Amino acid sequence: MLDRRISIAPMMDCTDRHERYFLRLIAPHVLLYTEMITTGALIHGDTKRFLAFDPLEHPVALQLGGSDPTALKQCATMAADYGYDEINLNVGCPSDRVKSGRFGACLMQDPVLVADCVASMSSVVTMPVTVKCRIGIDHQDSYEELVHFIQTIAAAGCDVFIIHARKAWLNGLSPKQNRDIPPLRYDVVHQIKKDFPHLKIVVNGGIKTCAEIDAQLPHVDGVMIGREAYANPYLLAEIEKKYFADEGEMMSRHSIIEKFIPYLKVQLDNKIKLSSITRHILGLFQGQQGARLWRRYISENAHKNGAGIEVLQRAMQEVL
Ligand SMILES: Cc1cc2nc3c(=O)[nH]c(=O)nc-3n(C[C@H](O)[C@H](O)[C@H](O)COP(=O)(O)O)c2cc1C
Repeated sequence: MLDRRISIAPMMDCTDRHERYFLRLIAPHVLLYTEMITTGALIHGDTKRFLAFDPLEHPVALQLGGSDPTALKQCATMAADYGYDEINLNVGCPSDRVKSGRFGACLMQDPVLVADCVASMSSVVTMPVTVKCRIGIDHQDSYEELVHFIQTIAAAGCDVFIIHARKAWLNGLSPKQNRDIPPLRYDVVHQIKKDFPHLKIVVNGGIKTCAEIDAQLPHVDGVMIGREAYANPYLLAEIEKKYFADEGEMMSRHSIIEKFIPYLKVQLDNKIKLSSITRHILGLFQGQQGARLWRRYISENAHKNGAGIEVLQRAMQEVL
């Protein structure tokens, strides 16, 4: 059974395999999610590039974007072959690209189709198939409509819902605005947990500190953290200590980098550019003396031809 108390949100361009490996070093127990991968990309693209991950990343969930039950079934089989621990369907992303592909948040209009998608995936895998959604979209934002959505999909066998506690406006707001402007309604998510006590309900949106996690956990089964985990990854060290490993010292930021270096060396040997990995670790020293110099040194040097781990070793001296 996956421990869902704390998970790190799927984020395009952020939660790639390098970021997940880095976060896993900091927090051995949180549940990690991939970036959203569309069924089209998986079926027609470079499957290995999209799906390969390091065994150390477990537990890790694959987030899929799509709305064709047959294509999703095919992708679910691939996810099982690669050993993912969960498949999550994106019913929360409001971008235009996603809308025109008829998936993401606009699927909240069609709970029966989402239920078909879930049933189709569940028919070929034994791992949990979960749904990440909003509390509503556009003018479909009443509590009754959300209940109908959850009920319909739960009846198809989904018993885990990750709910971003704000609605999305599909027209008029950009994806970024849709993460900030519609007000957070944690009360709605808490009420869903009360009304569906047998389902696992995970709340997402605006959660940045252990104190905020503490305030949520009595009301829901888990908390999903997005932007703060990316901007301030050391929060995960605090989380690991507080929720999963109450003994021992919190790992220092420097020791996290020391542990990351062997991974970096392997990636560099595989011709991965240093900067494509180090972009994920710029926030590690957030709030510490020298954090700006750490960021600047890496940003100015990691992209240079032949840049290697000496860039990190030098940058670490800025934050001693
Ligand atoms: C850069 C970025 C990319 C995102 N990409 C995805 C995605 O691929 N799939 C998804 O379901 N949500 C995506 N989201 C939304 C997050 O998963 C999360 O729901 C949202 O950021 C709210 O949580 P937070 O306030 O803790 O950041 C993305 C958010 C950001 C900032």
